[in-house]
Amino acid sequence: MKKINIAIDGPSAAGKSSVAERLAAELNYTHLDTGSMYRAVAYYVQSKKIALDDEEKIVDLLRKTRIAVEPDGTIEIGDLRLKEELYGNEISLAASDVSKLKGVRARLVEIQQEIAEEKGYILDGRDIGTVVLPHAEVKIYLTASAEARAQRRTKQNLEKGIEADYEQILSEIIARDYQDTHREHSPLMQAEDAILVDSSDLDLEEVIEKIVSIIEERLEKND
Ligand code: DC
Repeated sequence: MKKINIAIDGPSAAGKSSVAERLAAELNYTHLDTGSMYRAVAYYVQSKKIALDDEEKIVDLLRKTRIAVEPDGTIEIGDLRLKEELYGNEISLAASDVSKLKGVRARLVEIQQEIAEEKGYILDGRDIGTVVLPHAEVKIYLTASAEARAQRRTKQNLEKGIEADYEQILSEIIARDYQDTHREHSPLMQAEDAILVDSSDLDLEEVIEKIVSIIEERLEKND
C-alpha cells in the first residue's frame, strides 16, 4: 500500500508522542518527534551559555552546527547526542522559548521537510499540519482539557518515581499552552483540514482506534 505522511499537532501533554509511536509501530511508519528537536536546540544553546532569547547568537550558532535525527529518536546536535536528557521539566519551558524564534523554526522546519520527503512518516508537533507538511494526507489535532492532561502527566511521573504535584503541573501546562498559542511565528493552531480528536475522556487504546480508522479511511481513498 502506498505510504502517506501523517501530521499530529496539539498542545503539550496531549499524548501526541505516545500516540505517534504506537501508530508508527502498527503501520510500519517512522515517527519523528519534532518537539525533541526544539528541546535539543534549547539544550545545546544552554550548554553554550547563550541566552534563550538571543536570536542572533542562536541562529549564528545553528548555522555552524550539524543537526540530525537518528532512527531511534536520538538527536545529534554539534558534538552532543541527546535523548533522555531532553525530557526534564526545565528543558520543556526552554524549548518553548527557543521555539518562538523565527530563525530556529526555519532551520528545523527545513530538516523536518527533508526527512518527510520520502513519505511513511508520522510527525508530531505544533505546526506540522499548518507549516511543515501542509499537504499531509492525514492531519490530526489531538487535544484534551488542561486538567485531563495534568492528571495524566502527574500519574505518569509518579509511576516513573518522579515527584509530581498536580497543581504545579497544571499551571505549567497552562503557561506552555499560552506561550505556544500566542507566539508570533507559527503559533499552535488547528489546520483547517485537520480532524479534531479530543482525548479528555478516552484512554490511549481508544485514541489509537479512532485515529487508525481515520487513517484507514484515507488510505483506502488514496489507493
Ligand atoms: O512537543 P514538546 O513538548 O516536546 O515540544 C517542546 C516545545 O517545542 C513546545 O513548547 C513547543 C515547541 N514545538 C514547536 O514549536 N513546534 C513543533 N513542531 C514542536 C514543538
